[in-house]
Amino acid sequence: MEDKVMLLILYASQTGNAMDAAERLGREAERRGCPVAVLSTDQFDASTLPDEKIKVFVVSTTGQGDPPDSLKVFWRKLLQRNLAKDWLEGVNYALFGLGDSGYQKYNFVAKKLDKRLSDLGATALIERGLGDDQHPSGYEGALDPWMSSLWNTLYEKNPKLFPKGPGFLIPNMEFMDKPKMQVVYHEADKVASHYSNNADLKFIEMQIERARSMSPGQLYHEKNRPDCFLKMTKNHPLTVAGCGKDVHHFEFEPRSSIIEYEVGDVLEILPGQSPAAIDAFIQRCNLNPDAYITVHPWGTENHLLDSKVPIKLRTFVEFTMDVASASPRRYFFEVMSYFASAQHEKERLQYFASPEGRDDLYQYNQKERRTVLEVLEDFPSVQMPFEWLVQLVPPLKTRAFSISSSHSVHPNQVHLTVSVVSWTTPFKRKRTGLCSAWLAGLDPQSSTGVNIPAWFNKGSLLSLPPSLPLILVGPGTGCAPFRGFVEERALQSKSGPTAPALFFFGCRNEDNDFLYKDFWFSHSQNGGVLSEDRGGGFYVAFSRDQPNKVYVQHKIREHSNRVWNLLCEGAAIYVAGSSTKMPADVMSAFEEIISKESGVSREAAVGWIRALEKAGKYYVEAWS
Ligand code: 2AM
Repeated sequence: MEDKVMLLILYASQTGNAMDAAERLGREAERRGCPVAVLSTDQFDASTLPDEKIKVFVVSTTGQGDPPDSLKVFWRKLLQRNLAKDWLEGVNYALFGLGDSGYQKYNFVAKKLDKRLSDLGATALIERGLGDDQHPSGYEGALDPWMSSLWNTLYEKNPKLFPKGPGFLIPNMEFMDKPKMQVVYHEADKVASHYSNNADLKFIEMQIERARSMSPGQLYHEKNRPDCFLKMTKNHPLTVAGCGKDVHHFEFEPRSSIIEYEVGDVLEILPGQSPAAIDAFIQRCNLNPDAYITVHPWGTENHLLDSKVPIKLRTFVEFTMDVASASPRRYFFEVMSYFASAQHEKERLQYFASPEGRDDLYQYNQKERRTVLEVLEDFPSVQMPFEWLVQLVPPLKTRAFSISSSHSVHPNQVHLTVSVVSWTTPFKRKRTGLCSAWLAGLDPQSSTGVNIPAWFNKGSLLSLPPSLPLILVGPGTGCAPFRGFVEERALQSKSGPTAPALFFFGCRNEDNDFLYKDFWFSHSQNGGVLSEDRGGGFYVAFSRDQPNKVYVQHKIREHSNRVWNLLCEGAAIYVAGSSTKMPADVMSAFEEIISKESGVSREAAVGWIRALEKAGKYYVEAWS
């Protein structure tokens, strides 16, 4: 790192948002003339933290309050007990967190890091900023005001940082000449001929790996090569058509290899993109789909060219660029404005990218969920070089689903329970979620040739010993992992005794969206693993079958005594489902029960739950 750097921006990103925010901060600082370095925390040696550079941290919190993988080593260093209390004395820092207030541990990592830095003697220049995914404009809603306050404070503290004054900004134009990525075109006849039309699975696997390793923003996945390819063998709805919910049951089998997983594991899928959308994008951007390319950050071409084999531009787009992704970032509009040749388009784009245009951009972009392709089509005079598109079009991401089957019961099959996401925009345009709609649209009979790239990941529940009593709470698609649990338990019960299990399920109406109704009934009757004669129970909350809402937490309270008894027997609690208010409401019901049944204070009941969490016996898997 060069010595002239005075501002060091360190980010810890899991899905790329924190990186994006950090890079934006970096650009804004550079445009003010401030020498800056933007680094991921895993590219940075934490023992150099006490030097004089001002540190700006941008850190995200993932699902259950966990730090991104890239923060782990850094964090361990910071937690070392032998660090002096004044280790960071004299260090100035600012901190911005990215989180989701739908989760219990909202921005937990940012808060913990903030506390640890100040405990070690560092001084916060400004109050920490907390970005919230639930905010209408996402984390940027909090980032903008936080950033203005940062520049002002930095200038007051150290005018040297902005030599030409706080108001001076290098015109954006100069920035736009320099995309971060470089695309090198290769002559087709110098590229091995076997590249074209080779349908072999191994070949596609390599193509995916190659495309993903060339693409920026692939931080979210360590392994680029899929574990296997799946073919869909079953696809049927679990809900009544037109009832307002559309949940599907999918079954898959591997194309060639053997698959292995355990109940509670997670399946990641790389969704397919519509060929028409890819063609439209390529055409709109005047790209040559058959060109052979390699892609790499600027300045690294010699190093990378040796090791990277060119791939077709179309393949690169297909596997890495989410051309139908909604609501491109504000920076996308800023860069577009630079490449617009029609004056009225340039002005509109500049307005969108400006602080004054923020609300209008929100209406046009976020609220309507315009796709990258639609935005490009709305501004036909924009001709953005492919380098910029590679950098700015969001990467095509895998989607993760809780597996809803037991491998022991369905050898070499994997099942998913997926809600098909769809909504209508304010201008009455129908929108659907990319992966769920794509899966729901596949017909196992006619799409036998579709290869679904898949990765198996460990869930947090590592084993399900038959002796562990279970309290399961899973409204809606939250029942997915518990279908696998129950299948597994039922199998275990054939060869020996199993501990009791209670399952609380919730849906809107008994007749419309009671997912796997027969399955639950069959296991809760005649000595099944959820049956009362085995000390178990199956309880359903129909939220809309009566005037007042009845939710899973009401059912939990109703069966307070049984819940308490099972907790006394050492039960583990697993909660899965929508990330909005449900997990918090359910936790509060458990606290209430513990307090009521045992006679301890509410505070002590909260402590009880914390202890369960620490022991890995209170686990929440929430998704939006
Ligand atoms: P609702 O849609 O009628 O509000 C699965 O989505 C079920 O979870 C639905 O019955 C839904 O009810 C219910 N649900 C919604 N919010 C909830 C909350 N905060 N706690 C528990 N269940 C909830």
